[in-house]
Amino acid sequence: MKHFVQLTLLASALGLLPQALACTNDEDCGLNGVCNNNTCICDPGWTGNDCGRLDLRPGPRANGYNLTGQGTSSWCNGILRDPQIKDLYHLIVSEFTHGCGLDYWSPYSRIIRAESTTGPLGPYTFKQEIAPSFAHNPSVIWSEKDQRYLMYNIGCPQQVPSTCQNVDFTCGPGNAINGESGISVWSSPDLYNWTYHGQVFPGTDNNAWDADITNPAPLHLRYTPRNPASARGAPTILAYRGCPYNCSGAELITIATAPDYTSPYTPIHPSAPIFPEPSEDPFIWEDRRGNFHMLVHSLLPDAGFGDGPNVGRHAYARSWAGPWTFNNNSVAFTTSVEFEDGSIVEYFRRERPSLFFSEDGEMRPLLLSTGVQEVGEGASYSLIQPIGDGL
Ligand SMILES: *[C@@H]1O[C@H](CO)[C@@H](O)[C@H](O)[C@H]1NC(C)=O
Ligand SMILES: *[C@@H]1O[C@H](CO)[C@@H](O)[C@H](O)[C@H]1NC(C)=O
Ligand SMILES: *[C@@H]1O[C@H](CO)[C@@H](O)[C@H](O)[C@H]1NC(C)=O
Ligand SMILES: *[C@@H]1O[C@H](CO)[C@@H](O)[C@H](O)[C@H]1NC(C)=O
Ligand SMILES: *[C@@H]1O[C@H](CO)[C@@H](O)[C@H](O)[C@H]1NC(C)=O
Repeated sequence: MKHFVQLTLLASALGLLPQALACTNDEDCGLNGVCNNNTCICDPGWTGNDCGRLDLRPGPRANGYNLTGQGTSSWCNGILRDPQIKDLYHLIVSEFTHGCGLDYWSPYSRIIRAESTTGPLGPYTFKQEIAPSFAHNPSVIWSEKDQRYLMYNIGCPQQVPSTCQNVDFTCGPGNAINGESGISVWSSPDLYNWTYHGQVFPGTDNNAWDADITNPAPLHLRYTPRNPASARGAPTILAYRGCPYNCSGAELITIATAPDYTSPYTPIHPSAPIFPEPSEDPFIWEDRRGNFHMLVHSLLPDAGFGDGPNVGRHAYARSWAGPWTFNNNSVAFTTSVEFEDGSIVEYFRRERPSLFFSEDGEMRPLLLSTGVQEVGEGASYSLIQPIGDGL
């Protein structure tokens, strides 16, 4: 009995047991589950009273793309399964040239493709440069509508100094300091051969809240080969982070659309942040019920760039156009990562969340990719952590 009470208290403290009146509707479960008899029944991959926490599990230390031992830093990683070759996985990721660390992402970042033959967790090895410095923030989706992979990113080609240093430059309107403003798009039939379609969503040289436009996040539509909904003639939908010129103010998130991926993108009307909580690095997807979700890097005081552990937040909406709700109760993921050897790393920074989903139409999150930087280190790398029992 004593043990039962202790276990019950422990389970309750860990959020394993439902609490009284945890919900009155599915919104109270962050649309990551359903409200049943005042209790959230969370979808696989999500946990907590309000289903607002990713069910992260300890994974191997050898994962993702960690070349810091050889002096190379990386960031912004996203996983894709090869369309032809069984058991081959690709990681599209930013890598910094000249041995430069995270402080020098601009102008040293370039976009590369790495491969894993040991499953989607990696570890991945370098294969190919897709876009030379300065190219950053790659985000790749399969577009059923276009029968193409689409890669969105920021940047424009620059001559970079041979020693790590920041230089003032611009890739178009919105920012004259680090070239971050303005989104470009590429397409590929196979993930190997990429065609550049130019900058499709520039910033502006005015006093708009989102004059400086970055962190492109194309919508990951619920997809199965048999789901015609994923091929409907919907507009191309892109979440992004805006902030005032030279990023001299709040970083906030909203959505832009275009009739097709190479057309100019325009922010949804009215052009305003979709929630008031400061954040960046959106990642947006549609779930199996047709609801919409985002993971973001929170810039609230308990998160930010090394200011606190509560870096990963979740937001949800019934429609991609909103209204969106930022879950300010639960934390989707923190800077703390446990590994299967029992070790725990409390990272200084953990940003750029990206999910790898099951491909059965259930959109179960299987893996969380993030960029990480350890305390006291200039270098950064690309971490992949398992979610739930999915893999
Ligand atoms: C709903 O939950 C309450 C409290 O846990 C329980 O007493 C009741 O039997 C449940 N009702 C149904 C229909 O499951
Ligand atoms: C990444 O590589 C560095 C350098 O070898 C190492 O110190 C660090 O522990 C590695 N990260 C993980 C998660 O093993
Ligand atoms: C933006 O930054 C550039 C480069 O430092 C500077 O010349 C310019 O005055 C800044 N503009 C504004 C509006 O802050
Ligand atoms: C890449 O695509 C272009 C344009 O479709 C084509 O001309 C070229 O042959 C392709 N190259 C490879 C290596 O597949
Ligand atoms: C948390 O979110 C709710 C619902 O959006 C909002 O009403 C409330 O003001 C928020 N609280 C804080 C502290 O931001």
